[in-house]
Amino acid sequence: MNPSQLKVLIDENQIRQRTRELGQQISQDYEGRQLHLICVLKGASVFLADLIRHLPVDLSIDFMAVSSYSNSLHTSGEVKILKDLDSSIQGRDVLVVEDILDTGLTLSYLLRTLQARCPRSLEVVTLLSKSARRIKPVDVSYVGFEIPNEFVVGYGLDHQEKYRNLPYICVLKLDD
Ligand code: IMP
Ligand code: MG
Repeated sequence: MNPSQLKVLIDENQIRQRTRELGQQISQDYEGRQLHLICVLKGASVFLADLIRHLPVDLSIDFMAVSSYSNSLHTSGEVKILKDLDSSIQGRDVLVVEDILDTGLTLSYLLRTLQARCPRSLEVVTLLSKSARRIKPVDVSYVGFEIPNEFVVGYGLDHQEKYRNLPYICVLKLDD
């Protein structure tokens, strides 16, 4: 880790507080329903772990892995399912848990795939959103933080598989 390249953008307290707020909002919205969370690996795993502890409702979780980036800072626009869900989502109230919404290419592809499997409802919670970079518009019900057009790491987010373990979110400056 090279600390000189990292600048804290969102600290642990801000993440904790916002996650609690999102949890309260989601709990209210899904009251009396059976919530089924789909975590998009790997980045959203840290957010999922914190979020579910602020969701005092009946819920189940499943995981999906997709790839849109081949270890580079630039999106290829191509999305591949690396790991599919374990169980069917037909007739279920599905909430997709994402780490970051950037161009929207990954999520719009994913949502189309999931919608075709006939869930009862399909919504998205994303911790971060970089609206400035959006290519495909995506309808997201819950957004943690709108962030500037910078590459960020930490709290699950990586650069070439590094920095996921940082407890806060940092902007990563790369020499090019
Ligand atoms: P999109 O298809 O451009 O919206 O890309 C979404 C995916 O790209 C996210 O789920 C992340 O895995 C990755 N990604 C986009 N921006 C960043 C970033 O700033 N840091 C780390 N990963 C990112
Ligand atoms: Mg992701």
